[in-house]
Formats: sequence, C-alpha cells, structure tokens
Amino acid sequence: MSDVSDTSRGPMAGRRGFLKGALAGGIAAAAGTPTLAQAAAPATKPTGDPSTLPPHVADWSKNLGDGVTDHPYGQPVKYEKHVVRRTVEWLTADRQSSINFTPLHELDGIITPNGLCFERHHGGAAEVNPTDYRLMLHGLVDKPLIFTLDDLKRFPRTNRIHFLECAANSGMEWRGAQLNGCQFTHGMIHNVMYTGTSLRHLLNEAGLKSKAKWLLLEGGDAAGMNRSLPIDKALDDTIIAWKMNGEALRKEQGYPVRVVIPGWEGNMWVKWLRRIEVGDMPWNAREETSKYTDLMADGRSRRFTFFMDAKSIVTNPSPESPLRVKGRNVISGLAWSGRGTVTRVDVTLDGGRNWQEARIDGPVLDKSMTRFYVDFDWNGQELMIQSRAHDSTGYVQPTKDELRKVRGVNSIYHNNGIQTWLVRSNGEAENVEIG
Ligand code: MTE
Ligand code: CO
Repeated sequence: MSDVSDTSRGPMAGRRGFLKGALAGGIAAAAGTPTLAQAAAPATKPTGDPSTLPPHVADWSKNLGDGVTDHPYGQPVKYEKHVVRRTVEWLTADRQSSINFTPLHELDGIITPNGLCFERHHGGAAEVNPTDYRLMLHGLVDKPLIFTLDDLKRFPRTNRIHFLECAANSGMEWRGAQLNGCQFTHGMIHNVMYTGTSLRHLLNEAGLKSKAKWLLLEGGDAAGMNRSLPIDKALDDTIIAWKMNGEALRKEQGYPVRVVIPGWEGNMWVKWLRRIEVGDMPWNAREETSKYTDLMADGRSRRFTFFMDAKSIVTNPSPESPLRVKGRNVISGLAWSGRGTVTRVDVTLDGGRNWQEARIDGPVLDKSMTRFYVDFDWNGQELMIQSRAHDSTGYVQPTKDELRKVRGVNSIYHNNGIQTWLVRSNGEAENVEIG
C-alpha cells in the first residue's frame, strides 16, 4: 500500500488532481474517522512494485473497454473462474446419485449466487418444459386440483430468504476430521431468496378434510423423490417456489417448481414437484425410513429429524483460504438455525480456551444464513479457530464430542458440531479435531 496523496508519479495529472479532490471530499464527509492515508497505513510490508500501483495509469484506463458483453446472460469476470461448485471424486457422481458443493470460502454476505448453489440429485436433474408442467393436489381434500405454472403464479406471492441444508452436510465428519476444505465439510448448503406462494393458499383452494394430518410431496424426476410433511408445517411457512434470487429456478434446483420448507432438512424440499397428496398418516417413504434417519449407538434409528439445528462455520481462513499476511485480517463465517434467528456467534482462536463475540453484519433473518466477522491482528501464531452459534430458542451449537455422547458415531445425518481449523504459522489451515 502506498500513500494516495503522492501524485508526483505517472501521467494524466489532471485526472489525478480530480481523484485527489474526490478523495479529500470523501474524507471530509467522514469527520472523526481516520483519513484514508492513515487507514491505509501499511500494517505489513507493501507487496508488488509501487510503480504499477495507482496513480500509475494502466492499459485498461487508456483504452476503451468492451461494449456490452457477448454473453446476453452475464458471466463472472475471468479472474474469478476458480469460484465454482466442486465434486468429491470418491463420493457418488453419476446420474443415479450426484452431489456437488457450494464454494463457501469464496462468498460473502448471506446470498448464494444461483450458479454456485450446491446440487443433490437422487435420479439426475429433470428438464421440465414449463408448458407441460402440472401440479396435482389430491387425497383428503374437498376438491382435487391440477395447477399449471401460470395457475400457481396467480396466487398471492411471497418472498423469503432461507437456507437449505442437506441433512448429510458434514456427514463425513462423524468419526473424525475427513475432508480438508470448508467447501466439502460444510458446502451442502445455500441461501437464496425464494419467490412463490404459500402452500396454505393451494390447500385452502382445495379444501382440507377434517382428517387431513400429513402431506406427501412427490417429485417428477426419475427418482420420484417423495417425503411426508406434517400439515402444521404445510400451513405455516411452507412455500411452493418458482423463483430464486429473482429469476426462474435453475434446472438443478427443481425448475419449474420446488417446495421450500424453512429450517427443515433439505431432503424434504422436493424439486420438480408434481404431486401433493393429503392423508392422515405419514407415508414412511424410503427417504424418511432407510435414509435421512439418525442411526443411534444402540442400533435404533430416530424417526423424523426435520429441524436443522443451529450451526456455524468459519469460511475464512479455512483450508482453501489460508491467511496470507500478518497484521490486519478478517475472520469471516456463516451461522444459521432451522429453529429461528441467530442471536450470537462466538469465535475462539485458541481451541476453546477463550471466546469472543463475533460481529454480525448484514440481515439477520428467520431460518437464514447470517454473516459474522472477527477483525483481528495475526502475529503469525498458530491458531485453533472455532465458531459457535446461538439461536433465538436459547440453543447453543454443541461440540462434536457433546454430539457424539448423545448420538454415537453411526450417524451420517444432522451433524451440527463445532468445526475446528488449525491455522499453522505459515497461514495454511487444516481440518482437525481437538480432544
Ligand atoms: N427432490 C427431488 N425431486 N429429487 C432429489 O433428488 N434431492 C433432495 C432435495 N429434493 C432431491 C429433491 C436433497 S437430498 C436435497 S439436500 C435438496 O433437494 C438439494 O437441493 P438443491 O439441489 O437445490 O441444492
Ligand atoms: Co440432501
């Protein structure tokens, strides 16, 4: 970093003069805050050749830029090409069962861009022509109905930001640290704004019979994935959604219509939704009996674990995002709870001996990701970084050992234990466990 008031180098003095004035104006407006030069005072040695830094005028300032992009649908700049979903080779990746992971360490704020939302398909991603799309609602109703996509769009709309976390997120970590990267340990989650209609409106339109207690949600993909949903949740905040972050759902997220069940395990959020049946009992479908149940130490399985409990992860630093310089650094992470809002996040740098409250910044919403930061000076010491989320029910995220005491190690699903990153003195981070 160099002092911005040094304008003695480089061409285009007039333009520099303007820049200088503009900066000075900005500083004056923020009276009481440090000047830009002070704020930019190097905490560490500047890197790079100073003559290549402003006010040197680079080629891109001297020549015209491109006209509007060749891609009518915009793409990220080429320098960000590495920011992509990734797969794990030894985890299934074929048309019967496939999974990829959200690059959490490359994101900030709370919204996951559509092209980076992890995907999980049990029978491949169906490609549904919206004109052929139909949703059938039948069973214990007064009036069975079939909706087209346009029919759905004429019901009152709602916009909600919610996280979707696969119950198997962090599932590889039950028996100890496994996957060396937060994209893989925690990347089966995304957080987008959904537009759709409350399922309640459709159920009211059909008229529920008095015995109606459960719904079956069924997908139109080759897996025909289906799950039972209690009627109370269906009438509460469940959404039939056709947009994410303002645009149509991506094919891989269930185009044209998916179910959004805020705070509940991702498996229930049926994609390519084609049928809702109303009944008086759960269906005990494959995905809620042999799968997505928690196998306990005594060999018995818990029936239905719908809620995703409070959880958090430090995304930076992490194995894919080492600390690069000493001095001023930002620890950044995400916290969420399927039972309400995140009220507090604690961070420790020494493996749990001392905790400090992280700074939450950005919207704090119900059943949504929440962004937190710890601004700190790193002197090159080894760190054991952990984060711990608290939610609006008073629940505090447990350690992995606390979780194992109750759940054993036979589980795959619902692992919300505290993650540890060991940051070595060279800044590299590693997935470890303390204990
Ligand atoms: N719905 C259908 N029809 N088919 C599926 O394979 N996968 C489920 C759920 N809904 C699935 C589905 C699982 S296990 C998860 S975690 C989420 O969708 C993943 O949603 P995403 O692909 O939008 O991330
Ligand atoms: Co899943």
